Amino acid sequence: MLEQKNIILGVCGGIAAYKAVELLRLLTKAGANVHVIMTHAAREFVAPLTFQTLSSNPVHTELFDLISEQEIGHISLADRADLFIIAPATANVIGKIAAGIADDLLTTTVMATKAPVLFAPAMNVNMYTNPIYQENEQKLQRLGYLFEAPVRGSLACGWEGEGKLAAPEAIFESAVAALTKKDLAGLKIMITAGPTREEIDPVRYISNHSSGKMGYALARAARRRGAQVLLVSGPTALKKPDSVTVVNVTSAAEMQSEVMARVAQFDVVIKAAAVADYRPLVRNSVKIKKKSSQIAIELVKNPDILADLGKLKQRPFLVGFAAETNALAENAAQKLSKKNLDMIVANDVSQPDAGFNVDTNRALLLFKDGTSIECTLMSKDQLAEAILDNIVEQLAKR
Ligand code: PMT
Repeated sequence: MLEQKNIILGVCGGIAAYKAVELLRLLTKAGANVHVIMTHAAREFVAPLTFQTLSSNPVHTELFDLISEQEIGHISLADRADLFIIAPATANVIGKIAAGIADDLLTTTVMATKAPVLFAPAMNVNMYTNPIYQENEQKLQRLGYLFEAPVRGSLACGWEGEGKLAAPEAIFESAVAALTKKDLAGLKIMITAGPTREEIDPVRYISNHSSGKMGYALARAARRRGAQVLLVSGPTALKKPDSVTVVNVTSAAEMQSEVMARVAQFDVVIKAAAVADYRPLVRNSVKIKKKSSQIAIELVKNPDILADLGKLKQRPFLVGFAAETNALAENAAQKLSKKNLDMIVANDVSQPDAGFNVDTNRALLLFKDGTSIECTLMSKDQLAEAILDNIVEQLAKR
């Protein structure tokens, strides 16, 4: 996701400095080439060797370090950067940058870079709410600097309140967003994700193995690319994506009423949810007792939400998924035409590394005009990007 991106990670002195190690790990795992700059105070909290080992790059600490200036000077570091992240960012460093002070390697490199700069502040709650700090942050925001706000919690200083460094995953997400083209800006996209549960009685239900990972990856990617995203989600254990509106549902009937009530406001609908095709005819109001050796549960067909969307007179750009275990292309092509879709993402859910409840997927994208594109094995995040690339292309042809 961040392949070929050069990122500078500035680490300031604070107890949250250890969390920058986790952020570095996320950045390098996503393919970024990361150079770490540590302030003197940061080195009191974490040893430079930790960052050096995990980044596979020398850690930069001194403005006038002759050897590293010869190998890669601070100006060239600043020039090469695609993004500059400062995490944790202290009130001191934010104040210095806001005032134009460049008296060490970190502040000098920030001053010299033309790359976007993302601050993730961490400090005591009274420092954070101090009008001097707030004015500095607002000034930097007005100048186009990005901020990942700290969260509430119990702080290392013993106080409770705002000032805790945002989760490394949230800073990572903002970093990816800062580096992402906003080609979906202005579009409203509804995405369904996860399974549905069809209750048999108060303790049992019929469902499937969907984890929601595919749909949530699509929601995160669409948001990053500038879309306004609504996620209609069946029950999952996943964290709500930042800046995405989530409507939680349980059954297919609930998903249908939420989707149909809102569809008129959307430009694109992507149905990644694994909707149960059948539900029990009767939901027992009390737990069914274990008596006979066999019981039969009569099932009735659920509404086909995607087919209903396809029948709308004024319908959005419609993307379905096809979960198949055989005849992938044929079955998906049938669903594409029968449900009146613009595009379908066919995945073979019999494969151990694709489909349900894994982090990777491979898919065949089929389009209304009969063309298709094969996506080989990749992470669900990468597949989400590929699906959105194709939606952008198809929308441009309309
Ligand atoms: O959630 P994960 O663990 O990440 O797994 C991802 C996934 C395997 C669930 C996903 O990639 C996927 O294939 N989703 C669609 C699953 C499915 O229900 O496929 P289907 O072929 O049965 O249905 C075809 C399409 O009709 C789907 O877009 C489905 O959302 C929709 N449908 C199906 C039945 C129904 N009653 N209403 C519907 O809208």
